[in-house]
Amino acid sequence: MAMKQQQTEKGSHVPQSVPETAKLALGQKTVELPVLTGSEQEKGMDISRLRDQTGAITLDPGFANTASCTSGITFLDGEQGILRYRGYAIEDLAEYATHSEVAYLLIYGNLPSLRELEQFAGKIAERYDLPDGMERIFDNFPKTAHPMAVLSSATAALSGYYPRLIHPTPTREEIDEILLTLLSQVPTIAAFGYRRRHGLPVIPPRRDASPVANFLYMMFGLPANQKEPDEVIVRALRQVFILHADHEQNCSTSTVRMVGSSRANAFAAISAGMGALWGPLHGGANQAVIEMLEAIYRDGGDFKKYVVMAKDKTSGFRLMGFGHRVYKNFDPRARILKAACDRVLGRLGVHDPLLDLAKQLEEVALKDDYFVSRKLYPNVDFYSGILLRAIGIPTDEFTVIFALGRLAGWLAHWREMLESPGFKINRPRQIYTGPTQRRYAPLSQRS
Ligand code: SDX
Repeated sequence: MAMKQQQTEKGSHVPQSVPETAKLALGQKTVELPVLTGSEQEKGMDISRLRDQTGAITLDPGFANTASCTSGITFLDGEQGILRYRGYAIEDLAEYATHSEVAYLLIYGNLPSLRELEQFAGKIAERYDLPDGMERIFDNFPKTAHPMAVLSSATAALSGYYPRLIHPTPTREEIDEILLTLLSQVPTIAAFGYRRRHGLPVIPPRRDASPVANFLYMMFGLPANQKEPDEVIVRALRQVFILHADHEQNCSTSTVRMVGSSRANAFAAISAGMGALWGPLHGGANQAVIEMLEAIYRDGGDFKKYVVMAKDKTSGFRLMGFGHRVYKNFDPRARILKAACDRVLGRLGVHDPLLDLAKQLEEVALKDDYFVSRKLYPNVDFYSGILLRAIGIPTDEFTVIFALGRLAGWLAHWREMLESPGFKINRPRQIYTGPTQRRYAPLSQRS
């Protein structure tokens, strides 16, 4: 049925409930559920009144079939391998856009004009420096602290320097200030944390540099004979940030929304999102992929043995970087990153045997019925680590890089949620399976 859509600013659509309904029969009761149709014709049954109408709820472990919200930020089609930010194809954005353009697009909904971009990037650059005194936090972490522990803790701690930005109902101007503060200072936290963990002096930000170039400069400084970071490396990292910038309601973005839905401030919500991203099933997979490839390489490179292990449920081994909850076709980001690996390693004159190993694993897996039948393809994490290694990022910083890319998406979703008309705290239900009522027995009567 044609969808009645209300056209809002520049192309975004607010899905309207149309007369289309779905019928649900439960016992003697039959209810009609409104059906929403999204901009790309995906359909959703609105069950927001289901419990009132039937006394029953739904159960969907892992939320594989459940939309938590409507959103106009990112569209992905797992069957077709499509990923678009505000309607723009990821392939075009990764090829032609700057990181700041993509951050602006995700947050404000449209690509910026030249003047808008200069203002936005300028305001971010003005805020690169951490507040006075914040730097001391890095010296209080043990050297064994994982970079994601430092990043998420320091991000929450940053709120202590901005007490006027943590109240529960920020104005639009305060929301903009919050976005700029986090977009500019979280990369500085990441770089300072890296330097101090390795016993190195921090390198103050350069306000004349783009966010990507500035981050590389704060991480590694400049070689003696260079005035700017290597353009090949800047372009590679820019692509990595863009490819990781958003991915609709993934685990960490849903966490940001969950925490933000209690009207906890953005610093707390983003810090929580970092915690979710850290897991090896999510953003921690890029580090796990390299550790897996290194283990296979040390084990003589017998990748076929590991493919067999990945198919054996009792092995406890998974082919990290393979599979995805949504993509049942190639993850378009993996395709772009694979090409970027060839290009960048070639330009830098780097031969990484792990890239050869990754390609061999991919080739064997994609011909193996276990992977084909389960539609397990390389995901964004399969090649990203090889590219990051080539540009000098240490393995235990990979998830931090993922977080710096995803930061724009997290903030876009936080802002979208805060401004959505139906804003309310997230509070899922459950199906209780524990003991029914029983009487308390005094200790003396318990055997
Ligand atoms: C990211 O959600 C997002 O959008 C995430 C992300 C983003 O941008 O935010 O795209 C980023 O997190 C990418 C995914 C990174 N994680 C990994 O690479 C870890 C390895 N992959 C898996 O653990 C797994 O594929 C998940 C976690 C990604 C998806 O898990 P699902 O959807 O819960 O699927 P599942 O675990 O139920 O697996 C379905 C079947 C099972 O076999 P059967 O029970 O049907 O026999 O596929 C098998 C699984 O055992 N399987 C794998 C496998 N992944 C799934 N078998 C071997 N190796 C794997 N990697």
